[in-house]
Amino acid sequence: MYGGVIIMIEFEIDNKKVEVAEGGMIIEAADAAGIYIPRFCYHKKLTIAANCRMCLVEVEKSKKPLPACATPAMAGMKVFTQSSMAVEAQKSVMEFLLINHPLDCPICDQGGECELQDLSLGYGNDISRYYEGKRSVFDENLGPLISTEMTRCIQCTRCVRFGSEVAGMRELGATQRGENLEITTYVNHTMQSELSGNIIDLCPVGALTSKPYRFSARAWELKQHLSVSPHDCVGSNLFVHTRGYEYNDYRMVMRVVPRENETINETWLSDRDRFSYEAVRSTDRLLTPKIKRESEWVDVDWTTALNFVAEKWRNIIEAQDVSQIAALASPNSTVEEFFLLQKLLRGLGSNNLDHRIRQLDFSQQENYPSHPELGVTLPALEKMETFLIIGSDVRREQPLACHRIRKAALKGAQVTFVNPIDYDLNFEPTHKMIVPSHSIPRTLAGIAKYLLRRKSDLDPFLADIEPSKEEMNIAKKLRKNKGIILLGIHAITHPQATLIRVLAQQIAGECIFDLGCLSEGANAAGGWLSGMLPHRGPAGTVVENPGFNASEMFSQRLKSYLLLNIEPELDCANSMRAMESLTNADFVVAMSPFMTEAQEQYAHVLLPIAPFFETAGTLINAANCWQFSDSVTRPMGDAKPAWKVLRVLGNLFELEGFDYVKPSQITKELESMIESIPRNTTSLTLTANQTAQSGAGLIRFSEWPMYQIDNLVRRATSLQEWSQIENQVAIRINSKVAREHDFQSGEIISVIQDESLLDLPVIIDDRIAGDYVVVPVGISETAGFGENMGQIKLLRGRSK
Ligand code: SF4
Ligand code: SF4
Ligand code: FES
Repeated sequence: MYGGVIIMIEFEIDNKKVEVAEGGMIIEAADAAGIYIPRFCYHKKLTIAANCRMCLVEVEKSKKPLPACATPAMAGMKVFTQSSMAVEAQKSVMEFLLINHPLDCPICDQGGECELQDLSLGYGNDISRYYEGKRSVFDENLGPLISTEMTRCIQCTRCVRFGSEVAGMRELGATQRGENLEITTYVNHTMQSELSGNIIDLCPVGALTSKPYRFSARAWELKQHLSVSPHDCVGSNLFVHTRGYEYNDYRMVMRVVPRENETINETWLSDRDRFSYEAVRSTDRLLTPKIKRESEWVDVDWTTALNFVAEKWRNIIEAQDVSQIAALASPNSTVEEFFLLQKLLRGLGSNNLDHRIRQLDFSQQENYPSHPELGVTLPALEKMETFLIIGSDVRREQPLACHRIRKAALKGAQVTFVNPIDYDLNFEPTHKMIVPSHSIPRTLAGIAKYLLRRKSDLDPFLADIEPSKEEMNIAKKLRKNKGIILLGIHAITHPQATLIRVLAQQIAGECIFDLGCLSEGANAAGGWLSGMLPHRGPAGTVVENPGFNASEMFSQRLKSYLLLNIEPELDCANSMRAMESLTNADFVVAMSPFMTEAQEQYAHVLLPIAPFFETAGTLINAANCWQFSDSVTRPMGDAKPAWKVLRVLGNLFELEGFDYVKPSQITKELESMIESIPRNTTSLTLTANQTAQSGAGLIRFSEWPMYQIDNLVRRATSLQEWSQIENQVAIRINSKVAREHDFQSGEIISVIQDESLLDLPVIIDDRIAGDYVVVPVGISETAGFGENMGQIKLLRGRSK
């Protein structure tokens, strides 16, 4: 490449003219031209190892065959992939490979989709010349997600290279040499990487297979469906594999594998996206509509259940006021579900709608942009020169966005984190500023003050701010390059989220940076654009009389709630207050794929809805990509897609515009409304009461473990097994707090917040800044505890 211009090299493969960018290998040109060259160790996303030799080809003027994956193309070169020299070389390699390979195909889980099995058919001999015993290799225990049969390993080292080059963790390596070479873990432990499952797809043989899926189906029994991951704002593309006939109750989701999309997930998938499908078969699926009669749950048909909801709501509307009805939805809901839910409630006259269930600060919501977004495409992240990432555990929250940032960092981008915890990363950032959560606005104010050159609305606010040396250093780095500021989930759910946003916006403006959000859930953008908000209707239309937000809905103790796909005791910002309000409400409708003990207490009607894989719908990712996925199986039992349930409720109230037959009609309606709105303009300003707060006493910091973030992952058995091995349920404090309270690591501590008390072991963790107590949430042990960022007390445990 000269001055950004790519020079193409022209040459011939099998007498066909092909081309590749200068420096490219023969195999790349062959792949682009659709000419097949066998290979095992080559993978387009990994560095070249050239250790299997399966890709040997004949090159004119070369006396011996050359590996196509490691031979750079030269202008005028003539390559032959089918000549007798090439085919003989490939056959010899295959003969060597099979010397030690077990003849396991009939009982091997990879059978039918094995690269070695396929190639041995074309290049293998029908008789082996070797009679010696085959070597066997001990298996590795890589944990609950990946099974190993290391005797089948052909030492291609794809899995090893993936660890160091993509996952950023060297968990597997090659030991010994020659015939004794083995792929093994350096230290015998469960795979830690959140991307570990990708080695299953990379392994060309049956050495690494999916533990939850193995031996449950054969590749030829499966049907492949296009889908999208419903867990984070990346929206990874998936293939869902099912077994069984359509319309048959026994058609089941058997596994999930990545669907290549260079603009989103490339060829990768996070473990959360890969294994969460197990939740579909969870034993606590809600399979029939239920009504609570005299404290007993009674199974009813859909007509009875929906008429019951309509009748109860009519009574509430007549006796009190429609503003006593509220609806909360999961940020993973589809656009169609959001749109119909808000249409239903607004049709009845209530604006009490929200999907921001973990948010604490709703100030200036009317001035927020039309929806949270990254501001750039996901591949554009790789090209950024500078990042300022605020309040984000990006590696666990959006593993594949982190992968893009990591790639940029490896290319030399400056990556600075301002975080309350020194989170483990899979790359070395340029700078980490670890400050107590309440000091994040103060830190940003310091950076903004140093950068501000013009008069600004922020001047009065920044008057007393004296930037520290560290803040000045960060600011200087930002001034130098073009880049992006990213607000992570902690920044969005922070008690001063708006202040953080205003300051980030100011810094971005000064540096001519983009400002993006790594938002919560899989469809926060869809929630905003569909109008699942108290102050905005679909397409960002202004609501004249805004309803209650997610926090006010519970503090106001309303008469009736509808919950769509959430478990408030685990999902909400203040689960204690949520549970109190729900338990005291007159009428609670829970639309959920699962039945929980908490729902049994507070709900009056349970409506079984189809979880993600059983329903059709659209998710909008952080890069504004609208991705529709169809249902892959029939809903289990009597469950129904939520959009259909909401449509029937609309019909029962005789509301206009509830005649949709398919989800695409709903999305079309919303899309036509969105065409006319201005995109993402924002006019957030500081108000007098927005000042940087200081922390006083011990403050709780809530952390959602990676596999507890929503109702699907919480029920994926293999991910939960992984969590049990890796995540001890405990509170975490730093050694300063431990010293002040004279606590020892492992000791049982009583944690007191408002009127809640729970006993948990303590772990001393010096990655935490300030007087914070990190409490894991989204788990039953801490369900129903107070506000996520509230004051907290620690006492020596009662059980000690
Ligand atoms: Fe057969 Fe492939 Fe399994 Fe080896 S890894 S036993 S070739 S299916
Ligand atoms: Fe290759 Fe699979 Fe062996 Fe890893 S385990 S080196 S991916 S064959
Ligand atoms: Fe070329 Fe392995 S694919 S040497």
